Amino acid sequence: MIRDPKDLQRYNAGERANHWVVGISFILLALSGLAFFHPAFFPLTQLFGGATWARILHPYVGVFMAFFFVLLFLRFYKLNRMTDADREWLSRVKEMVDGDDHNMPIQGKYNGGQKVMFWGMTVCMVLMTVSGLFMWRAQFAVPIELARIGAVVHAAAGAVMIALIMVHVYAAIWTKGTIRAMWYGTVTRAWAKQHHRAWYRQMTGR
Ligand code: HEM
Repeated sequence: MIRDPKDLQRYNAGERANHWVVGISFILLALSGLAFFHPAFFPLTQLFGGATWARILHPYVGVFMAFFFVLLFLRFYKLNRMTDADREWLSRVKEMVDGDDHNMPIQGKYNGGQKVMFWGMTVCMVLMTVSGLFMWRAQFAVPIELARIGAVVHAAAGAVMIALIMVHVYAAIWTKGTIRAMWYGTVTRAWAKQHHRAWYRQMTGR
């Protein structure tokens, strides 16, 4: 059974919709961005109606994603403030990856790794958006020197961002029972108790 009345609400519909708008935009941007980055990926432009359309659409989708990422950021930044328990969690992360999570400090709604990911995504988003605007010479009269710096920063931040999202998705799949939080909004009590015990106590009063 995927849903049980005793499941805990982790995300409301607005949070989930906001997350998926950013997630889907990100995939479109990564595919079209890779197509501009290296000839081996050039055939990906066909997904967007050819090279010209890919080039026209990419910056508009970028501005769209940046706007919705700001909303996502405003929803979640307070929950992603680092605490001493998060730092301890990070110092013990190897034990957990090796299969022993007995000594991990109890976690609130997000663990130290998720918080580092959140701030990493935020820094990359800012760099990508600003450097992208520097390169958008079809819209803005940006000096060529600035556009060149923008190209380097955009490529570097884009590579880091793709790596971060791969880790984000992998971690969501690796921690069984997490993906459904973004589909249905709920998680099982057992999941919450195992991975985010302080949040479980806060939600259930136990
Ligand atoms: C495209 C594939 C993606 C998948 C499958 C995915 C999956 C998930 C899942 C399952 C969660 C819930 C984690 C939990 O509650 O513990 C989550 C949370 C989150 N995701 Fe994603 N995600 C994706 C893309 C993205 C992208 C592109 C971004 C932003 C750049 C993003 C930003 C976030 C944020 C901010 C949270 C809330 C966690 C926090 O605030 O630390 N996700 N994601």
